[in-house]
Amino acid sequence: MQRRSFLKNAAFGVVAVSTSGLIHFDGERYVGDCETTTDIIGPFYRPNAPLKTNFIIPGDPGVPVELSGIVRHGDCMTPYKKAKIELWHCANNGLYDNDSEEYRYRGMTFTDEEGRYLFTTILPVPYNAAGGPMRPAHFHLMITATGYQPLITQLYFTSDPYIDKDPFSMAPAAKKRILMIGSTPDGKKKVVYDINMAEKLDVEPASLEKLAGNYTCQEQEEITSSIFVWNKRLWENTVYGKKLDPFGRPLDYIGNNTFQSPGQPVSMSNTCQFEISESGSVKYTQTIINAKGNKYVFTFVKKG
Ligand SMILES: [Fe+2]
Repeated sequence: MQRRSFLKNAAFGVVAVSTSGLIHFDGERYVGDCETTTDIIGPFYRPNAPLKTNFIIPGDPGVPVELSGIVRHGDCMTPYKKAKIELWHCANNGLYDNDSEEYRYRGMTFTDEEGRYLFTTILPVPYNAAGGPMRPAHFHLMITATGYQPLITQLYFTSDPYIDKDPFSMAPAAKKRILMIGSTPDGKKKVVYDINMAEKLDVEPASLEKLAGNYTCQEQEEITSSIFVWNKRLWENTVYGKKLDPFGRPLDYIGNNTFQSPGQPVSMSNTCQFEISESGSVKYTQTIINAKGNKYVFTFVKKG
């Protein structure tokens, strides 16, 4: 059964049991507790990572670890074959490889017939990005699977001293992504994480707050916008010289740091793709397709 029809059928029950977990009403909609929750992409993602599952670099320090699991469909049960999984993380010195052709500690693979994936790498370490607070050690994952929104998330480790100081790992949605580091039969470190795809992604409030602020349009100074968080959602209010919307428009997360106004007719769209730089500055590209099919693209930069 497709998740959507399952949710529809369950809509009159208070709690319905899904195949591998509970579905509950969060005050707005029914959500499953088996879906993999999203996390920020962070400033160190590099597209086009090579096909590679063994990240070990001879002579480079670090604790070897196997990261493995199964990718499943939105029913949290059926294995997803040939899902693309990208993994990136820092080296043992806390730094990311942001420019080398080797794409150190970066790679991608596809799930097999049983939905399984496996990477051999080293454990990432806590790091201090751009002079900010320490982040707990984490793996970054991006899963691209046809039929689902791209899923961007992070995995943390139970033993980490920074887990309860970091807004992202502290968020309730990250709870099930804080993982035990176990051992393989031959004594190697091992982390197992099963990924369950979801059609729609929830963004943790701390991730949304990072985007909130007042922005100026680069192409036309008189256009300003305010991005804000209200009722657990991101909202956008663009002012074209004078205010058109009294409050603003909600934006739904559609993956890949991109938000979209929900409920638009198929031919129209309003999407905002955000970019957070290493220094913490934020900008977004807004693409509007209006009822006449005209396309407008603006770049907004956050003030201050
Ligand atoms: Fe990171």
